[in-house]
Amino acid sequence: MDTPKVIGFAGFGLEVPDLDVAAKFYGAFGLDVHAQADWLGLRSPGRLQDEAVIVRGAHKRLHHIAFTIDAAHESQFAEKLQKAGMKVLNAPAGGHRPGLWFQDPWGTWINLTPGTRPPAAVSAPSGDRIDVARWQELSRDPKPARIGHMLMFTPDYPKAEAFFTDVLGLRITDRAAGKVSFMAAGNGTIDHHCFGLIPSTHRGYQHASFQVGSIDDIGFGAARMAKAGYKEGFGLGRHALASNLFHYVRDPWGSWIEYYCDMDKISDQWQTRDWNELPYIWGPEWSPEFWGKQMNGNFEAP
Ligand SMILES: [Fe+2]
Repeated sequence: MDTPKVIGFAGFGLEVPDLDVAAKFYGAFGLDVHAQADWLGLRSPGRLQDEAVIVRGAHKRLHHIAFTIDAAHESQFAEKLQKAGMKVLNAPAGGHRPGLWFQDPWGTWINLTPGTRPPAAVSAPSGDRIDVARWQELSRDPKPARIGHMLMFTPDYPKAEAFFTDVLGLRITDRAAGKVSFMAAGNGTIDHHCFGLIPSTHRGYQHASFQVGSIDDIGFGAARMAKAGYKEGFGLGRHALASNLFHYVRDPWGSWIEYYCDMDKISDQWQTRDWNELPYIWGPEWSPEFWGKQMNGNFEAP
């Protein structure tokens, strides 16, 4: 039998000091917020599982990451983890997800949730438009369709790459050499990445990204965030690796959340390459200071 592989990115968990601050921020972003006694479940409208779980903690900190697995592979994954020297454990406090829980070699909690790959956002129609007033037809308050990916800081870049590919079955699709590894999950035609690693002094959350249907949805989302007081952002632009259109909004704790659309899809023919390009082909004025220290700054306590 094939070695089991994760089939998608299910979501993330953060610890933050004030749940009300998080509920306001993610609600404005467009996620449904389910407030529990001492945690929040966040999901794109219509999704059946929480994509983000926010728990109370002394400081903002990455709490866990979660990948989707085929339910039939749960016991194979448990065996594989054991062979790789990791134990399946009880969910940690705040681990409000079903499935397997374990800690990676650097102490990050990882959840493997049984499920299926979520549907992609419905794209805006393209082609000729005659006698149609598009501006009257666009949704003025579009919401995210699903979580697309997350990038995580790692203190042990090459070993972490090997861990996520060998043990979880992710596949490296492109690298910004020495700076970012993008990874995809699943078989067939899949998104260019659903996860990625950035080298740093310690582990942490860099950004999560939610798919929307079109460039208009990115624009409406960014405007909605600005109106709600979340004016610090980075975008609009088109990325180099993966080609997606993007706009990032700074979260209340110094990290980022992203709206994106129009990402490259890949097949098993895709070749992994290392690149030395700017992160985007057009967008805000390039500033190594901003990109290196703000965009890719790890502001979490170790
Ligand atoms: Fe992204």
